[in-house]
Amino acid sequence: MEYAILNGELIERKDAKVDIEDRGYQFGDGVYEVIRVYNGKMFTAEEHLNRLSESCEKIGLNPGFTKEELKTKLEQLIGKNKIGFGTVYLQYSRGISPRNHAFPGSEVPAAFVAYTREAARPEENMKSGIKAILTEDIRWLRCDIKSLNLLGNLLAKQKAAQSGCFEAIQHRGHTVTEGSSSNIFIVSGDKLVTHPADHFILNGISRQKVLEISHENDIPFEEKAFTIDELLGADEIFISSTTAEVMPVIGIDGSPVKNGKPGELTQKLQGLFLEKIEKECGSIQTGALNS
Ligand code: PDD
Repeated sequence: MEYAILNGELIERKDAKVDIEDRGYQFGDGVYEVIRVYNGKMFTAEEHLNRLSESCEKIGLNPGFTKEELKTKLEQLIGKNKIGFGTVYLQYSRGISPRNHAFPGSEVPAAFVAYTREAARPEENMKSGIKAILTEDIRWLRCDIKSLNLLGNLLAKQKAAQSGCFEAIQHRGHTVTEGSSSNIFIVSGDKLVTHPADHFILNGISRQKVLEISHENDIPFEEKAFTIDELLGADEIFISSTTAEVMPVIGIDGSPVKNGKPGELTQKLQGLFLEKIEKECGSIQTGALNS
C-alpha cells in the first residue's frame, strides 16, 4: 500500500484528494520543497525545511507544524512507502476557503500535503552531460520564494523539451539567472561563478552545498552575475539541483560547450558532492541501478 500525507495525516495515497477551493489549486497560493532520499534517508532535510519556513514567512503563511514535526512525518512517510532512492515532495497551501484574492482569516488553517516518488540517481546524464537552450527569464521578481506558481518555469522547461534539451538556462537581458528547475554555474579558468542569492534566483540547497564544498576544498568561487557571453565562453558549465545533483552542460543552443565533454572541475565537484551525500545517508553504489 502507498501512503501520502494530507493535512498532516498519513493516509492511503489513493484517498489523498484536494478540495477544489484549495488556494494552492486555484491561485498557486503556497510554497513547496523537493527533498532527495538516498538509502531511505533524506539528504539536507534540515536545510530544505529551513527554506520552507523562510518561504512561508515571505508569503505570510502560518505553517501548522514545526520543522521537527514535519521531519518526523516525512520520515514516517518514507519508511511506510519503503523508499530507498527517490524524492519526497511537500507543499503548504494557504488552505481551503471561498475564492477571494485577499487572504482568508487566521481561522483557515494552511493545508499540508506530502508524497514520495521512487527515482534512481540520473547517472547517465550526470556522466555524459546534458544539453540546454537559452531563453528569456519572464518570471516574477521574487524567484527566491519556492512558490507553487511555476508557470514561467514550466514554459521555459517545455521550450527546452521541444528542442530535445534537458534544461532551459534563463537570462534577464544579458544576465544569466538560473535554470527552469536548477541553478547554473560556470567555470572560468580555475574559478566557479554563479548568480548571487538575491530575488532573481532560488537559493538552491544543492547550490549552497557546491559553494560549501568549494570553500572546504580551496576551489575559488564568486557569487556574481555573469552574462550570456561569459556563459558561452565558459570553460565548463554545470547545473545543480536536488534531483540532478551536479550535472554537466555540454551544449547550448546546438553549440558545444568547449570540447563538448563534461569538464574536469565539474567531475571533481560531482565526486565531492557524492561524498557529502554518503556522509549523511551512507554509502551509495554508483554504476548500479540505485532504486
Ligand atoms: N527544483 N532553481 C529553481 C527554479 C528550482 O526549481 C530548483 C529546484 C533549483 C535548485 O534548488 P535545489 O538545489 O534546492 O533543488 C533552482 C526542484 C528540484 C523542483 O522543483 O523539482
